[in-house]
Amino acid sequence: MRTLFTGALLVLGLGYLFAMLYIFAAHSSADGRPGLSVEDIKITYSGSKEITPLEKALRGPMSGMLPQKDLAIMLDWIREGANKRAFNAEIETIVVDNCLSCHDGSNPHLSNLDGFENVQEVVAQDTGADVFTLVRVSHIHLFGLTFIFFIVGFIFSHAYMRPVWIKSAIIATPFAGVIVDVLGWYVTKVQPPFAWVVLIAGAANGLSFAVMWVISMYQMWIYRVPEHVSSRH
Ligand code: HEC
Repeated sequence: MRTLFTGALLVLGLGYLFAMLYIFAAHSSADGRPGLSVEDIKITYSGSKEITPLEKALRGPMSGMLPQKDLAIMLDWIREGANKRAFNAEIETIVVDNCLSCHDGSNPHLSNLDGFENVQEVVAQDTGADVFTLVRVSHIHLFGLTFIFFIVGFIFSHAYMRPVWIKSAIIATPFAGVIVDVLGWYVTKVQPPFAWVVLIAGAANGLSFAVMWVISMYQMWIYRVPEHVSSRH
């Protein structure tokens, strides 16, 4: 059991690190500034009056898809109002060379960037994550995270910890956290300040994951339970 638990904890811990890395890479530059902030969360769910989806993508996941020089030209073009003349003059070739291999309209899940009319749609006002996307991501998170926290909580339930209510609270926290987090996305979409709740719920999940992980590993390999516990009938 110790081998099984250790293997599961190692892989889940690595998975958690990559999940945080992904959140950072996908959302930290939503507000145009480096680092993950509550502002980034607000923009992700409720949209932004200032930043368009194209700029958000170019500052985030799409930033590596084109040379830095062209990236700067595109960002300037967006900032200066994304007009058609400049698009025909210099933007269209950048898009054709760097983007159309994926965004030519053949993939229904990616925006079509072929031609000014199509590109115009992603430089229009950003209204945040659409409800369909949230519903899709919600069911994935609710199912997936329940598995993760069930496994880690089950392993941690074998640890020796008193008082028992603290142990129960640590096990319960991520389940409450996941519900608050996921429902919080929808609230943040209409009430941006609620992003704080999403942030705090996410932090609580991470913290309880870390506590359960460290205590379980420590007690499995290093710690000896007190005599009165190991010898009790
Ligand atoms: C290798 C394939 C590929 C290339 C090349 C590519 N993209 Fe993307 N793009 C994606 C994928 C996949 C997503 C969805 C990623 C995500 O949601 O994290 C995406 C998402 C986006 C989005 C936001 C979501 C959407 O579909 O509206 C924008 C805007 C975007 N890309 C613009 C660009 C621009 C501009 C370029 C060229 C500089 C580009 N992409 C090059 C694959 C690509």
